[in-house]
Amino acid sequence: MKVFVTGGAGYIGSHTLIALLAAGHEVCVFDNYSNGSPVALARVRQLSNCDMEVVEGDICDEEALARAVADFAPDAVIHFAGLKAVGESNDIPLRYYRTNVTGSMNLLGAMDAAGCGRIVFSSSATVYGEAQYLPFDEVHPVAPTNPYGRTKAMAEQVIRDWTLTTPGASAVLLRYFNPVGAHESGRIGEDPQGIPNNLMPFVAQVAVGRRERLSIFGDDYDTRDGTGERDYIHVVDLAAAHLAALEFSGGVEGCEAINVGTGTSITVRELVDAYARACGRPIPFDIVPRRPGDVASSYAATDKAERLLGWKPKFDLDAMCLSSWRWQSDNPDGFPLAK
Ligand code: NAD
Ligand code: UD1
Repeated sequence: MKVFVTGGAGYIGSHTLIALLAAGHEVCVFDNYSNGSPVALARVRQLSNCDMEVVEGDICDEEALARAVADFAPDAVIHFAGLKAVGESNDIPLRYYRTNVTGSMNLLGAMDAAGCGRIVFSSSATVYGEAQYLPFDEVHPVAPTNPYGRTKAMAEQVIRDWTLTTPGASAVLLRYFNPVGAHESGRIGEDPQGIPNNLMPFVAQVAVGRRERLSIFGDDYDTRDGTGERDYIHVVDLAAAHLAALEFSGGVEGCEAINVGTGTSITVRELVDAYARACGRPIPFDIVPRRPGDVASSYAATDKAERLLGWKPKFDLDAMCLSSWRWQSDNPDGFPLAK
């Protein structure tokens, strides 16, 4: 199948490319490298021993995007491109709405023009907001609490409305929980710019000596050990979920939102202990006050993914930490700058 992949040079996109190429799909990546690296794409080519088309461009550039989609004439699209930092979205909300909402609308318009009616979209568990009950299932109310989450909820709504008015169209909205880990080769992985916002990349940078100590945001939550609980999902399992979603979207019309998590909650302390085992050294930390906006617990109901996609995660927390450590220790400063 011909698959057009926006944001393929980023963290989740690059891992999904490996899965797509291994399954024999023909791929075109569309990325502006604002948070992705051409080196990641070069490594994907090496690892999979396959080539792919790459177009450097911005999803906000409606014409360039439409041209790239028309030229490639895809059977399906996977839409990763977007901005994803919650804190930053509070500071520059318009940029978030333009990229994540208008950019997605540009993509649907380009697909319409090229006669492509299949999309898998990167959504987030953040669309649920405060938990009214746990685990989060897909019928839990959508009530995001920050601009980033609202852009994802709006893009979901736009895509849903598009499927209602586009004959034969099919969309899968994958609501990721907490993607972590790296490809087993250690050649590609998460390469955050500046100070990592998320837990595992921060822990990885402490382990490799780039940062001195982790700050644990609160140990007074109502959880097993007082620290926040999340549903961490191995990025390679997440990549496999995209392939399953692509296959599923071929046989149905309409729009489905599907959680992608393990259904298991892990506390910050448990993750830190597992990472220390994986890297063979202690992770120094301080307990500091809670991070504003954080919830105590978040984890997924996973039965819909299993039922509709026939997908189940394979990797446990130790595998997530080991693969992250391989990537971080082999690439302490992330990807080298492209020449
Ligand atoms: P990432 O930043 O590593 O990848 C995004 C890619 O999109 C990058 O290569 C970037 O250069 C590209 N991009 C950004 N803006 C663009 C634009 N205007 N035009 C073209 N390309 C553009 O992020 P990721 O972690 O791989 O996340 C991928 C998607 O999954 C995002 O939409 C994100 O919101 C969503 N998501 C991520 C997480 C997570 O924790 N990583 C969780 C839930 C949802
Ligand atoms: C973050 C995003 C969320 C996104 C999700 C998936 C915020 C506020 N939310 O949520 O929108 O969907 O990632 O990637 O950014 N922690 C520490 N110290 C740190 C970093 C984190 O103790 O330096 C704790 C947090 O308090 C939390 C847990 O680790 O309990 C996980 O944090 P993080 O990785 O940022 O993920 P989320 O909070 O789930």
